Amino acid sequence: MSKNLIEIKNLKKEFKNNNTVIKVLKNVSLNIESGKLIALIGPSGSGKSTFLHLIALLDKPTHGKLKVFGNLTKDIDEDKKNKLIRDNISIIFQNNNLLADFTALENVAIPLIIRNQNYKASINKASKILDQVNLHHRLNHLPSDLSGGEQQRVAIARSIASETKIILADEPTGNLDYETSREVFSYFLKLKEKNKTILIATHNRELARKADYTLSLVNGVIKRVNV
Ligand SMILES: Nc1ncnc2c1ncn2[C@@H]1O[C@H](COP(=O)(O)OP(=O)(O)O)[C@@H](O)[C@H]1O
Ligand SMILES: [Mg+2]
Repeated sequence: MSKNLIEIKNLKKEFKNNNTVIKVLKNVSLNIESGKLIALIGPSGSGKSTFLHLIALLDKPTHGKLKVFGNLTKDIDEDKKNKLIRDNISIIFQNNNLLADFTALENVAIPLIIRNQNYKASINKASKILDQVNLHHRLNHLPSDLSGGEQQRVAIARSIASETKIILADEPTGNLDYETSREVFSYFLKLKEKNKTILIATHNRELARKADYTLSLVNGVIKRVNV
């Protein structure tokens, strides 16, 4: 397999609303290598979430080629797609990442249990990883009893536990204060050390500067930029 985890060629994404067509992504061609931390910046409404959803296989391109792990996504059936997502892709949103009726510990363990891993081993692993993100004292809290920063750390712990190669994060620090954003971002840097591929949509230029490189999305076009 090539070193590119994600290959995108002439990708277009349009949304049709009544009689109008919104051209969100116009002609995107880029590759994403393994083990990179990449920031995706762009004005609100420019299509950052749309782009992440395409890579997460939650939506389909209108035109063009999207290959994830060497699989041409338009050719794969639902079963294979779901397996590809489950085994390889985590997505972290700005908020509401967690299952409200489950504790922090359960939220991290559930993806492991779903993958048929042993229940007790899953709980132990989840507990260890929550410890790594400094949440050992919050294992049995429900999401509603956690702060925004703590909730995001649980969501990151869940991606660490899942060990997916690709981690997509959609403005994960958008609702956090300065210090908490920096702390949450530090865990993404740790994930990179584990050779994960991380793509983060963010408005935070200071955090973007810590990425390996930045992609800027403006008027449907994505370019590599220096921030
Ligand atoms: N499902 C959809 N149907 C119609 N339009 C959409 C849909 N999703 C996103 N859009 C439009 O696509 C554009 C890009 O949205 P989005 O990807 O959410 O931008 P960003 O995440 O950069 O703020 C916006 O104009 C938005 O209204
Ligand atoms: Mg968005």
